[in-house]
Amino acid sequence: MSHDHEPHEFALTDVLEQRWSPRAFSRDEVLNQDTLGPAFEAARWSPSSGNSQPWSFVVGFRGDDVFQTIVGTMASGNQVWAEHAGAVVANIAAVVDAEGKPQSHAIYDLGQAVAHFTVQATAEGLMVHQMGGFDAQTLGRELGIESSQRVVTVMAVGSMGDPADLPEKLQEREAKPRERKPLSEIVSGSADYA
Ligand SMILES: Cc1cc2nc3c(=O)[nH]c(=O)nc-3n(C[C@H](O)[C@H](O)[C@H](O)COP(=O)(O)O)c2cc1C
Repeated sequence: MSHDHEPHEFALTDVLEQRWSPRAFSRDEVLNQDTLGPAFEAARWSPSSGNSQPWSFVVGFRGDDVFQTIVGTMASGNQVWAEHAGAVVANIAAVVDAEGKPQSHAIYDLGQAVAHFTVQATAEGLMVHQMGGFDAQTLGRELGIESSQRVVTVMAVGSMGDPADLPEKLQEREAKPRERKPLSEIVSGSADYA
């Protein structure tokens, strides 16, 4: 399941080593609330500012109306592969609290909850591909979310499929080794990574 990448500077725990964002999802598999339960449970137990838990999720399983609604708002370059995933999820942050006060960490907290989801899903043998390429306003309206909430990202979830089923251009991108900035560029202070 892991994907070609530059050498790690330090070894990662298995589940993080295996995580990456594929576009080729299994077209045979449809997920359900039981198969996604552990990943949502992990999101639920993510830390948040003041334990505000400002996240919520709307999930659709391939073939149902919610799935179609979420996929229908994706950029076409995402739709072409995400429509084959077993499930899609809208990741929502409550950016304003019940008293009308902006929750400045809500998007950070949601991102962390999605990271927890992703790690647990990987441990369950699933793959997750997050997306910012979708029409957030339209999706928020179609899902009927409150004005205090914002759909920040969507994600496709499923088992790995056959990259040969992707359009040619995406097959090339799918095969590209994963890259990252070196630790020396992103960590400073008292550490001095080579
Ligand atoms: C907030 C966010 C938005 C993203 N938007 C898209 C997107 O619209 N389309 C896409 O194909 N991938 C999208 N990605 C996936 C990233 O491109 C991917 O995580 C990154 O290239 C690193 O690859 P990896 O996840 O395989 O390590 C997004 C990821 C995040 C976290």
